[in-house]
Amino acid sequence: MQLRLDTSDPLGKSEPLLAVPVPQGAAAAQGFLARVDAALSGAVSKVLSAGDVTGKAGDEVVLYGPEVGPQRVALVGVGPLEKYDAEQVRRFSARSVRIAERLGRDSVSCRLEGFGRVEDGALAQAAAEGAALAAWRFTELKKPAEDTPQVAVGEARFYSDGDPEALEAGVARGDIVAAAENFARTLQSRPGNVATPRHLAEEAERMARETGLSATVFDEERMAREGMHAILAVSRGSDEEARLVILEHHGGEEGEAPLILVGKGLTFDAGGISIKPASGMEEMKFDMSGGASVIAAMQAVARLGVKANVVGIVPSSENLPSGTALKPGDVIQTLAGKTVEVVNTDAEGRLILSDALAWGARMKPAAMVDCATLTGAVVIGLGHHAAAVLGNDETLVEELRAAGVRSGERCWPLPLWDEYREQLKSETADLMNVGGRPAGTITAACFLREFVGDAPWAHLDIAGTAYGEGKLPYQRKGGYGFPTRLLVEWVLSRVG
Ligand code: BES
Ligand code: MN
Ligand code: ZN
Repeated sequence: MQLRLDTSDPLGKSEPLLAVPVPQGAAAAQGFLARVDAALSGAVSKVLSAGDVTGKAGDEVVLYGPEVGPQRVALVGVGPLEKYDAEQVRRFSARSVRIAERLGRDSVSCRLEGFGRVEDGALAQAAAEGAALAAWRFTELKKPAEDTPQVAVGEARFYSDGDPEALEAGVARGDIVAAAENFARTLQSRPGNVATPRHLAEEAERMARETGLSATVFDEERMAREGMHAILAVSRGSDEEARLVILEHHGGEEGEAPLILVGKGLTFDAGGISIKPASGMEEMKFDMSGGASVIAAMQAVARLGVKANVVGIVPSSENLPSGTALKPGDVIQTLAGKTVEVVNTDAEGRLILSDALAWGARMKPAAMVDCATLTGAVVIGLGHHAAAVLGNDETLVEELRAAGVRSGERCWPLPLWDEYREQLKSETADLMNVGGRPAGTITAACFLREFVGDAPWAHLDIAGTAYGEGKLPYQRKGGYGFPTRLLVEWVLSRVG
């Protein structure tokens, strides 16, 4: 999608559709809205006094334009001013795009308003993100259906009289971040027979060539040589070979400790011998969501020219039952040297992550963050509105929580007290891969903590937030690309 900033007056332009945010309780049209009202001979006041648009988030109405000026004006409710933030901006621009889509328009214009609560840079970034995310569609494997809009919205124009430099930088940043998140969504959307570990690795390599990242891909032979027996154990039941992808961005000083992002790239999780129920199993193509977001975030890091060393690591395999598959009770070796009794082969994510985290820890990172669709338990705990964040470093956990608020991809802390570690005690090995029903998200994170050494580390459990029904205006049913925005925002927060 083309995103443009325009600092001229939109009321002097014959745009096909101009979307204007309306805050709740704006009884008499104020500010820019008052000018729109005048241009439309009082139609805005009428709509507001009739209560057709109260400003409640979700309200919208399309009015037809004056003789000169925009052909259509969409009044879009953005909720109460006290709650107005970057996320409301993201939703506003997304809804503007969807209105244009419904009306069969291939472009949309949005009036940007910070209402004294969102700064120009963040305002433009959020608007750009919302628009580009809303326009995205996964069309690779389907002929256009009659009920899907035939016209794709290919352009969004943002009107603001704020600081052009800050706005321009914001639009550019939002463009890069949203394109990355859309890349993650495309990878997520591809089914397991397309998006195999080999495919993920090839896509990462292609992206790396295009953006100037360096890419290294380990095949199974290399993993065996390095001692990554946990990934190999999970992959044993599958005919598709596992891969470990390492992407490196050298934006900092030579030898400066890197920030490391690790993402679970399990391209299909049938559960292995501890097989999952058939119903809903198709969703397990999304079990590579963390890996997709890490690859995507690395794309954004490269394109933003982040002044830090950043490394992305994605362990990728399938988890299938077969005659060669890992069995419950098997004890495996890991790269870190700890042995694991695999009591449930469906707790495979922590196994492939253990080797990836151990590899990352060897690089002595300044901080390491992993993201994974790791436990069903996190959906019970937090639902679909936030990921869980857990780690061995409170500052890092807080950094992520704050980056989550700014990016609109929120996470919320759970404790990682030593008492929970007891649930992982094994008779025969250094630890078990499952800790029973209580606190499933926490015991999974406890397991991961065993493999990070003394690196400052945090884990995001994204099983409830990586994909879904598409409830927000910038989402669609399927992959959300979550937490690409959050990861990029966190990396940026570390470089100041
Ligand atoms: N990939 C699943 C977790 C998951 C569940 C993701 C629901 C998305 C939606 C993971 O590999 C898994 O199977 N976890 C098990 C762990 C259990 C065996 C300890 C789970 O959560 O049931
Ligand atoms: Mn599983
Ligand atoms: Zn899984």
